[in-house]
Amino acid sequence: MTPTILITGGGSARGIGRATALRFARLGYAVAVLDLEGAGETAGLAGRAGSPATFAARCDVTEQASVADAVRAAEAALPPVTVLANIAGISSPTRFENITLDEWERIFAVNVRGTFLVTQAVLPGLRARGYGRIVNLSSVSGQRGGGVFGASHYSASKAAVLGLTRSLARECAGQGVTVNAIAPSMVDTDITHGAMTEDRKAELAATTLVGRLATADDVAGVVAFLASPEAAYLTGATIDVNGGSHLH
Ligand SMILES: NC(=O)c1ccc[n+]([C@@H]2O[C@H](COP(=O)([O-])OP(=O)(O)OC[C@H]3O[C@@H](n4cnc5c(N)ncnc54)[C@H](O)[C@@H]3O)[C@@H](O)[C@H]2O)c1
Repeated sequence: MTPTILITGGGSARGIGRATALRFARLGYAVAVLDLEGAGETAGLAGRAGSPATFAARCDVTEQASVADAVRAAEAALPPVTVLANIAGISSPTRFENITLDEWERIFAVNVRGTFLVTQAVLPGLRARGYGRIVNLSSVSGQRGGGVFGASHYSASKAAVLGLTRSLARECAGQGVTVNAIAPSMVDTDITHGAMTEDRKAELAATTLVGRLATADDVAGVVAFLASPEAAYLTGATIDVNGGSHLH
């Protein structure tokens, strides 16, 4: 049967979600893309990259009804979901004393509540079928406390994603469902909305052992590994994709 990946945050043109959609399309997966915008374009590209079936929905991962509708429609349109990639996320460099409650809640709503809601909508099907791979996007920021772009709220939300990942991995024990996280350092995408200068990017590249920033496809490749049979013995793990910038 054709495997299916459901990707949140897959709409962004230079983002990790779109790179993941295209990589899985090339692997022959059916691809469902959920995002506030751009999902249809990514699904179209995935189809042209070789995906046998695609689905796109405008979905706000912070809204339970929006998530329920999109997941239901994806499940009706495509073969059963085998891989869930929770990639939707937002960041902000606001210093702690200037973070408003609204901004705090917004970061947590997308990064933590979104991961919770989408996973809760998809998990029953994975459990019922006795097979699933859940991959959550955390960040090196959640491990070492920021220092790249995102500030304390972002760091706290990405640490929460690690706790959620480990706890859910335990709850899924013996059910054929693994739950893992990826913790990238700076990836050259548009998540900073242009706020990262070229000088700062060069500085960050110099802090890595590999000598460059990550590409979105560096991360997509690790999502593919976590979905592969070779990763069957990994669950509750955090895979660092940081070019050696944070060794621990
Ligand atoms: N770029 C980096 O340096 C970096 C580093 C570590 C972790 N990450 C994480 O990787 C993930 C992807 O980041 P990216 O760099 O590709 O960013 P991006 O901004 O290119 O993509 C994020 C996507 O999430 C979508 N999104 C935001 N809010 C949403 C919502 N409420 N509902 C649905 N979709 C929503 C956006 O529309 C966008 O398409 C994020 O979780 C981010 O925190 C990124």
